[in-house]
Amino acid sequence: MIQEKRITLKNLGKINPESIDDYINVGGYKAFEKTVGRHHIEIIDEMVKSSLRGRGGAGFSAGLKEKFTSEACLRCEQKYLICNADEGEPGTFKDRIIMENDPHLMLEGMLIAAYAIGASKAYIYIRGEYYKSIDRINKAISAAKEKGIIGKNVFGSAFSVDVEVKLGAGSYLCGEELTLLESLEGKRGYPRIKPPYPAEYGLYGKPTLINNVETLATIPTIIEKGSDWYTSLGTENSPGTKIFTISGDVNKPGYYETEMGITLRELIYELAGGIKDGKAFYAAILGGAAGTFVNESVLDTPMGFDTLKEKGAVLGSGAIMVMSEGRSLFDMTNSILEFFKHESCGKCVPCRIGMPQLLHIMENLKNNKIGRIEALDLLLYESEFMAKSSLCPLGQSPILPIKSLKQYFENEF
Ligand SMILES: Cc1cc2nc3c(=O)[nH]c(=O)nc-3n(C[C@H](O)[C@H](O)[C@H](O)COP(=O)(O)O)c2cc1C
Ligand code: SF4
Repeated sequence: MIQEKRITLKNLGKINPESIDDYINVGGYKAFEKTVGRHHIEIIDEMVKSSLRGRGGAGFSAGLKEKFTSEACLRCEQKYLICNADEGEPGTFKDRIIMENDPHLMLEGMLIAAYAIGASKAYIYIRGEYYKSIDRINKAISAAKEKGIIGKNVFGSAFSVDVEVKLGAGSYLCGEELTLLESLEGKRGYPRIKPPYPAEYGLYGKPTLINNVETLATIPTIIEKGSDWYTSLGTENSPGTKIFTISGDVNKPGYYETEMGITLRELIYELAGGIKDGKAFYAAILGGAAGTFVNESVLDTPMGFDTLKEKGAVLGSGAIMVMSEGRSLFDMTNSILEFFKHESCGKCVPCRIGMPQLLHIMENLKNNKIGRIEALDLLLYESEFMAKSSLCPLGQSPILPIKSLKQYFENEF
């Protein structure tokens, strides 16, 4: 029987999330204390060696991002760390679980990362509807300030740091790192053009490290137990653990933290209790709306960034939405495209015009004005054009579900 392996959820249910003493009693803030006694380059090296890949979706090396930000603009007096807690991807609710149940773990990860890159100011950009998370994070910050864990010369070191919470206003696009920067600066949530990357030119033009909640909450355990221990978990290219959030037609929807390399079959049938009402598995959407449809041929593929890529699929944020036999791929695709249209900021033409156009193709298919094969080809043509010409990753996203429909469900869509 497959078991969960909890790192970012290790304290869940074991401590009172509102008690800093509880967190300290289970070894909390020890990794941060150890960190400020070491050279920041040692911390970055440990993180690079751990091969931890960002859990916000893109899977970029967390250690390398720290290295780039630390090395950018050596004469800059100000650098920033930002925790991306916007969690807007449909089907994704892992960051909320961490923030509600172990806010200090995320905070400790932030403090370690801030020290590594030399940031004296850190922000948590949090989804405005996450009332409980916001409350718990604010309480955690106040308690850490009272104990001198956040503030001037922490643990008697030369390092001083401040942490502040900023609320998002419900825009999916504002979770995208460059748009997030605009929003944090108090501007309209329009994306910036990349490059320059935030490591070079981030918040207020200063070097900035942006990491996801789950990424940051993994750091204290890596510093405590070492990168060798971390790489002994998971797969070669995707080491460690991942929180998967499983929803849809399963008996036990929820969050499950396991080693990378677990298969979709194990996640669905062993951890999530199998398909509801004894029905057969039909499809799953991996990675959220900006994700991919897969059929049963992917059930035994190890879950990892590269293993799924080889199958034309994405791991993304770790969201898994399960569809049993009888569910409609048309309805699911339509609702994904509606979501994208609603969240498009309208700044660039290919996405502003392209999103309604995709829905128009769906409408024509529904009304039998065009056939199934023609519709799929048109959707593919249009979304490929959008992927090539849109300004930001949101307009480049519809190609993901559409291409995977063509790959796995051409005869059924
Ligand atoms: C439209 C869009 C929305 C995004 N929303 C989030 C989000 O809510 N939370 C998040 O951590 N990353 C989100 N991302 C990814 C971020 O741009 C960025 O890659 C991530 O915060 C980096 O952190 P990581 O390296 O720890 O994964 C989004 C990306 C796009 C394109
Ligand atoms: S791709 Fe879409 S969301 Fe991105 S800038 Fe263009 S209109 Fe805005």
